[in-house]
Amino acid sequence: MTEAVRLEIRGEIALIKVNNPPVNALGQVVREGLLNAFQRAEADQQVRAVVLVCEGNTFIAGADIKEFGKPPQAPSLPEVIEVIEGCSKPSVAVIHGTALGGGLEVALGCHYRIARRDAKVGLPEVKLGLLPGAGGTQRLPRLAGVEKALDMIVSGTPISAAEAVEHNIVDELFDGDLVDAGLGYARRMVEENRAPRRTGEQTQGLEGADNEALIRAKHAEVAKRMPGLFSPLRCIAAVEAATQLPLAEGLKRERELFAECLNSPQRGALVHSFFAERQAGKINDLPSDTKPRSIKTAAVIGGGTMGVGIALSFANAGVPVKLLEINKEALQRGLQRARDTYAASVKRGSLTEDAMEQRLALITGVTDYGALADADVVVEAVFEEMGVKQQVFEQLDAVCKPGAILASNTSSLDLDAIAAFTKRPEDVVGLHFFSPANVMRLLEVVRGEKTSNEVLATAMAIGKQLKKVSVVVGVCDGFVGNRMVFQYGREAEFLLEEGATPQQVDGALRNFGMAMGPFAMRDLSGLDIGQAIRKRQRATLPAHLDFPTVSDKLCAAGMLGQKTGAGYYRYEPGNRTPLENPELGPMLEAASREKGIERKALDEQYIVERCIFALVNEGAKILEEGIAQRSSDIDVIYLNGYGFPAFRGGPMFYADSVGLDTVLARVKELYSRCGDWWKPAPLLEKLAAEGRTFTEWQAGR
Ligand code: COA
Repeated sequence: MTEAVRLEIRGEIALIKVNNPPVNALGQVVREGLLNAFQRAEADQQVRAVVLVCEGNTFIAGADIKEFGKPPQAPSLPEVIEVIEGCSKPSVAVIHGTALGGGLEVALGCHYRIARRDAKVGLPEVKLGLLPGAGGTQRLPRLAGVEKALDMIVSGTPISAAEAVEHNIVDELFDGDLVDAGLGYARRMVEENRAPRRTGEQTQGLEGADNEALIRAKHAEVAKRMPGLFSPLRCIAAVEAATQLPLAEGLKRERELFAECLNSPQRGALVHSFFAERQAGKINDLPSDTKPRSIKTAAVIGGGTMGVGIALSFANAGVPVKLLEINKEALQRGLQRARDTYAASVKRGSLTEDAMEQRLALITGVTDYGALADADVVVEAVFEEMGVKQQVFEQLDAVCKPGAILASNTSSLDLDAIAAFTKRPEDVVGLHFFSPANVMRLLEVVRGEKTSNEVLATAMAIGKQLKKVSVVVGVCDGFVGNRMVFQYGREAEFLLEEGATPQQVDGALRNFGMAMGPFAMRDLSGLDIGQAIRKRQRATLPAHLDFPTVSDKLCAAGMLGQKTGAGYYRYEPGNRTPLENPELGPMLEAASREKGIERKALDEQYIVERCIFALVNEGAKILEEGIAQRSSDIDVIYLNGYGFPAFRGGPMFYADSVGLDTVLARVKELYSRCGDWWKPAPLLEKLAAEGRTFTEWQAGR
């Protein structure tokens, strides 16, 4: 037996304890340990019941994701679970924390399950491009019914212990000590002389419903809501097998479908996304003893959409927050906006009336900077203009207590210049939220030249507190996300001059998997934002850099997107469905004519490469400049802030999977044909020449 799994004999009860920090993942040592422990419990004449419990923060949280894609090592998890389920003595799994994936499958292999009241259970494999491959698709529907099993397996979302009881997945809830609860339950099993109750032999969940109709409905839902994803359809097929085949054959079918998922490129990309997100929280050069400051109160300056979204994020995390506006009217509008946003959630059913009032009570409106004196962190979300930022930071410097974090939500301005408006630039950091800030998970944490380690660590901790995915970036125009998206959007617009329509460009990128096309996105955020950036850039960039002009033409005609009823598309009042804008056609023709371009039909692959490779080339420059710590950080930014499809792993991982030599060849061709802005990034050239990937470069650096 291994250290990761221990067996203690307590009278008539075998107590099996798993201890494999941090999350008790089912690596080879745990599988082998479980197998041995159950075999010994089976062989021990004295033992009449078995308890499986985990040490640390959680029950088994799944297979060891690091083992995916490597040669399999015996014993396999299905073999282990077969032994657990086959045991002739009744067993109980004692669940706390999160029983996820293989963890829940092990629990389903046990004959009974009890869960601490705050526990969660789920089968999240689909999020990694997989399906539960150790009996989960066969055993869960037998207990919970096909409808619930399909929901859990296809969405991957865990459910609470109480819900698990409702659906026969868990037998009983408990509070308090795990071992006591497990031993108590086991003693009852012995007293009542209970026999093993094997999940695989149950049938109640498969009966009484129109399973075929449920499966058809799930197919339709997946086609609509998860287009392009490989594993959800296999998840459905595996559950369907449970409704049609005896257990042994169903398990075999599940294995085949699991192998298909394991070998799909989407699995590699999604696993990359999982680890990339966890890696992003780590700052390479931060001394490990850096202690974040404690954040108990916050303040936000600016009651516009962004400022209110940020204030809501603090309130959602239970942090009292002051919202500052310049006058009573503007403040009233901001507070009303906060109330309206929560009210919409209450209407949708995602928030209770009580919770809304509790959160609103955490937000205090103020109009006087003096009221910010006790805030631990102040986030500025005012107009994007240096003069305005200067006024704000000079006032903050005057009123805020020593040690307060002074944060700017600027999306493009020079953070070092902003920090220089204060006498404490070491306390200044960028917290770049994405709109709507209370919804979007991404937070770019901008590290200024003088930002102290402690302040940076605190900024990351704030991100965690607000349940954001935080990524550290350096100072440059647009930081990582917007600097790259500028290139992407510009290419999209050049495509309009070459002959495409917004519908074609958006359609091609949506087919690639982007959540939204670039033109629908611009219409949503407002064309005036891009216009202001272009104005600034035209003043500073070399004259020979070409700029597309369609957006300028729309702005000149007062078509600023959804808010004016028209932009790249036309919108009916109160309806966000993009319709063709009949006034755009002549503008496209004019834009092409002015540049002497003959409009022609463009194919989808060309459209996608032109936009996505523009991201990659800029990303490579960003990496070289050290603006991002790692290529996977860029991926995290794009996956969480820009709707990049997770199943492609992010732009840099996608480039790796296409092959950097292929990407470079296309970039070079565009460089020679389109202009200087396509100049290949030296890092891209170097890696392509060496036959390496961004991921390999990152690992070896
Ligand atoms: N296999 C290997 N490592 C895992 C893991 C798994 N199944 N689950 C988590 N880890 C690692 C993380 O990479 C992280 O490592 P690091 O500290 O070196 O970065 C560490 O465990 C802690 O994970 P983290 O996600 O930061 O902790 P958390 O407390 O926020 O969340 C979980 C814990 C279990 C809810 C979350 O990690 C999770 O959802 N894991 C995946 C579960 C899953 O998909 N299981 C099915 C696998 S098929």
